[in-house]
Amino acid sequence: MEQPDVGKLIFRAAGLLRAARRVVAFTGAGISADSGIPTYRGAGGGLWSRYDPDKYASIDYFRKDPSYYWRFFRDVRHQVLEAAQPNPAHLALVELERAGHLEAVITQNIDGLHAEAGSRRVLELHGSTRRFSCQSCLARLSLDEAWERLALALPPSCPQCEGPLRPDVVLFGEMLPECVLREAIELSRSADVMLVVGSSLVVHPAAGLPILTREHGGRVVIVNVGETPLDQVAAVKIDAGAAHVLPRLAGSVIQ
Ligand code: APR
Repeated sequence: MEQPDVGKLIFRAAGLLRAARRVVAFTGAGISADSGIPTYRGAGGGLWSRYDPDKYASIDYFRKDPSYYWRFFRDVRHQVLEAAQPNPAHLALVELERAGHLEAVITQNIDGLHAEAGSRRVLELHGSTRRFSCQSCLARLSLDEAWERLALALPPSCPQCEGPLRPDVVLFGEMLPECVLREAIELSRSADVMLVVGSSLVVHPAAGLPILTREHGGRVVIVNVGETPLDQVAAVKIDAGAAHVLPRLAGSVIQ
């Protein structure tokens, strides 16, 4: 059931976005929940309650035994990538950008749905699960090519040199891509408003970006189902689904 004050909160958030010179969105798994992609944490468990991230998504374990990662990838691929389409929340961010009310989308998501929806400036902090590379010859592979190799062997190998493949995602224990992080930090510092959508805000350094906005005098608006550690410092917190809130928010900002 909708919180009684969601409409008022959307109205207040829209006022902040309209008045801002520079708005940046910061998104997490929750924005893709309505596209059918499971979140990592939050209500109902999430992927990391079924798969131990230390085993399935850490660089240490990937180096030791990459087959865990690839099994995880094989399990979730159909659900995560095959059927998933951008939802109204992704599309609302596209509208805001086109109308000149959104500078960029900084995302922790690896699903590629922001670009697919039509967002032009997207910073993928954690990489993309649609790109792969060979750790030996550095050949680049598409999702379909990696999938074909995975059908032949676990873990899969490079079609050119038989070297080990890896996803172009940031695994736990790895650094974020430096130039993407630098650009994200600059955008966060200079934003008057950071619109956080669908993130538990517990994984750093990414989760530190809204804090940077605050420290530099900007406001933080959070749209998330469930609590986050930044709720207390947010100018507006809307505890409701992104696909429900964002189209209304964009409509109210653009009018
Ligand atoms: N709308 C808005 N928020 C939602 C929705 C929805 N429809 N459905 C779920 N949520 C909330 C969840 O309740 C949770 O608080 O979205 C949040 C998603 O949090 P996480 O699953 O922790 O996702 P995220 O913050 O993106 O995770 C950060 O952790 O494991 C790593 O690398 C992974 O990029 C990921 C990082």
